[in-house]
Amino acid sequence: MLPTPEVKDIDYDKVYEPSEDSFLLLDCFEQEQDYIRKRFGNTSSPLITEIGSGSGIVSTFFAKHILPKSVVLTTDVNPHACQTTLNTAKQNQTENETLRLDAAQMNLTDAIRPKAIDVLIFNPPYVPASEVPDIPKDEADPTWLDLALLGGEDGMVTTWQVLNNLQTTLSQDQGVAYILFCARNKPDEVAEKMRRQGWQVDLIISRKAGWEVLSVLRFVRN
Ligand SMILES: C[S@@+](CC[C@H](N)C(=O)[O-])C[C@H]1O[C@@H](n2cnc3c(N)ncnc32)[C@H](O)[C@@H]1O
Repeated sequence: MLPTPEVKDIDYDKVYEPSEDSFLLLDCFEQEQDYIRKRFGNTSSPLITEIGSGSGIVSTFFAKHILPKSVVLTTDVNPHACQTTLNTAKQNQTENETLRLDAAQMNLTDAIRPKAIDVLIFNPPYVPASEVPDIPKDEADPTWLDLALLGGEDGMVTTWQVLNNLQTTLSQDQGVAYILFCARNKPDEVAEKMRRQGWQVDLIISRKAGWEVLSVLRFVRN
């Protein structure tokens, strides 16, 4: 089993604490490591982007264990999450190993060149809610953490923004996206809709977490 990155000195009032969903993604990538290495075997520096990196645990795990030759660029709207992601990557480096990971504060992948992302990772705000919260105006605002959880109607408002834009964000031939869902997001219906739009969608891993059932779907162009 690949070791879980250390996460320490994090203010969990401001940044999402690694939870069952984060750990499911780690297990997903452990399971997918051969597929990913094979897919990017001939690419010199594949670009990996995790949207909403939070503590940075998933991106650090990916950069360290799954595809060390990749360049990982994480995004998060929450500035505290961006700084924490950088700290986590740094804390998990060794003397002989510099992780090629950077963090940028942005909405989703807005400032990333189209068709540049080879592997897109997203553990979204998936909890159904009356609406997606507004982005706070300053760093000291106490509500940054709300953005980690609340996903509007069916918990899918932010996730659909990403899915509807996949053709533009993913690199042309080999781009692949891993997106996490809870059962209330109706992942079977989402998968069917995406298949009708020309995507191959596969269930990679699924697990009961308390009263939730979490799953990760993989999306590639047909
Ligand atoms: C459920 S947390 C996941 C955190 C981390 N990836 C993990 O698995 O532990 C969702 C993250 O998405 C971020 N987020 C929410 N809306 C976003 C948006 N529109 N663009 C970028 N990041 C967003 C939140 O700030 C939060 O850090």
